[in-house]
Amino acid sequence: MANVIVIGAQWGDEGKGKITDLLSRSADVVVRSQGGVNAGHTVVVSGQTFKLHLIPSGILYPDTQCIIGSGTVIDPEVLIEEMEQLKALDVTTDNLHISQTAHVTMPYHRSIDMASEERRGDYKIGTTGRGIGPTYADKSERTGIRVLDLMDSKRLHEKLTWTINYKNVILEKLYNLPPLDEKEVIEEYLKYADYLRPYVIDSSLEIYQAVQKKKNILFEGAQGTLLDLDHGTYPYVTSSNPIAGGACVGSGIGPTIIDRVIGVAKAYTTRVGEGPFPTELSGDVGEQLGNRGAEFGTTTGRKRRCGWFDAVIGRYAVRINGLDCLAITKLDVLDELAEIKVCTAYEINGETCNHFPSNASDFADCQPVYQTLPGWQQDTTHCQSLEELPPQALNYLKFLAELMEVPIAIVSLGPGRNQTIIVEDPIHGPKRALLGADGVPVSA
Ligand code: IMP
Ligand code: MG
Repeated sequence: MANVIVIGAQWGDEGKGKITDLLSRSADVVVRSQGGVNAGHTVVVSGQTFKLHLIPSGILYPDTQCIIGSGTVIDPEVLIEEMEQLKALDVTTDNLHISQTAHVTMPYHRSIDMASEERRGDYKIGTTGRGIGPTYADKSERTGIRVLDLMDSKRLHEKLTWTINYKNVILEKLYNLPPLDEKEVIEEYLKYADYLRPYVIDSSLEIYQAVQKKKNILFEGAQGTLLDLDHGTYPYVTSSNPIAGGACVGSGIGPTIIDRVIGVAKAYTTRVGEGPFPTELSGDVGEQLGNRGAEFGTTTGRKRRCGWFDAVIGRYAVRINGLDCLAITKLDVLDELAEIKVCTAYEINGETCNHFPSNASDFADCQPVYQTLPGWQQDTTHCQSLEELPPQALNYLKFLAELMEVPIAIVSLGPGRNQTIIVEDPIHGPKRALLGADGVPVSA
C-alpha cells in the first residue's frame, strides 16, 4: 500500500486530472486538499469527457471514496451543479464526502473577486473570477463561513447577517455595487445545506481511519507549484498551497503517512492569467502547441499561454515538493515539431543561474538558456511502451529526467486512459522507476 500525493509541477493544467484518474484505479480514497472551483480537471473515459472543478477525479470509480478536504473552499452552487451533471451521466456521488471545516464561497466573494480585479487595472492577477481569493482572505481574517456553519441554520443566520452587513459596506462604498439582501442569500444557502448535508463528514478523522486500515490514499493536487501562495510567482498566484506540503495541511494528516510524491508536468509549459513566463512562445510554434494541445482553460475557457519546457522550474518543483518521480503529459503535442527547445538555465544580469530565483524581478527579467533537441515528427498517440516511442522522443524524456534529476514514472500521449505508458506504477510498484535520471533502467 502507498499514500501518494500528486501535484502540478508547473502553473497548473499539467494533466493532473488524467493522472489522478489513472491512479485512482488503485486508490481506496482520493482527497482534494486545497483550491476550489478555480480548478478544472478534464478526464476522458470511453470517449466521454468529464469536466471536474471541485470533485476529485476518483469519483468515476464507484468504490473509491472521494473527500473534499478542509483546506478547500467550496462554492455550493457550483458543487451541486457538478454533482447533478455527474448523476445525469450515471456517475454516482454516493461516495463523495465534504469536510465540515472547509470554507464556503459566498456571492460577495465572487463579486469582490471580479470587482477587485477590475480595480487593479494593470496590476490585475488574471484570476478565474470564482471568488477563491476573497474566500481564503476571509478565512485568514476569521470572518469565513465554514461548512459546519452552513449546516446549522441558527448559526448561519447569525453569522451571515453580520457578515453580509459588513460586506455590503465594501460592495457599496468601495466598488459601487448593489448591496446583497441577507435574507435572500441565507435562504439560498440553506437550500444548498439541505442538499449537501448527507455528504458532510469530519474529514481528518475519516482519512486517519483509512490510514489505520492500510488503505491506499491519493491526495489530488489542484493548480500547480508556481501558483502556490508562498512559493509560487507571487503575486500572480492562487490563494492556497498547491505544493505537496499543502496536502498535509489541507487534509489534516501528518507528513509521516505520505509514501510518495508524484509531480505532473507537461512536455512543454502553459500558463493562464497574468505574470512572467520566461519560455513563452509568441509566434507560430506557440499557436501550434496551443491548438494541438487544445490549450483553453477548463474553468474559464481562456486561451492558455504556451512555451517550451522549463527545467529550472522543473528542478524547483522537485525541490519544493520533494518529488520522487514525474509524470510527463501531452508528449504527443510535440509530435510534429522538427526541433524542440528545452530551457536548461536562466541568464540573469549576465550571469547563468541554474536555480529558480526567489526574487520576483529576477524571474521577470531572466532570459532562458536553451538546448535544442531533434523532434521525431511521428505520431506517438498509439505507443504503448517506451520501446515503441521514436528514439528522439525517448531521448527527449531522458534529457528531462537528467535535467531534473528524478525518474519518469508515467508518460501520457493523449487524453484517453489507454494513451499512457506506465513505466512504473507509483502506488503498487516498488519505489523505483525504469526511466531513470541517468537514462538507464534502475531498480531499487
Ligand atoms: P484564482 O485562483 O482564481 O484566484 O486565480 C489566481 C491565478 O491562478 C490566475 O492566474 C489563474 O489563472 C490561476 N489559476 C487558478 N486555478 C487554476 C487552475 O486550475 N489551472 C491553471 N491556473 C489556475
Ligand atoms: Mg486545469
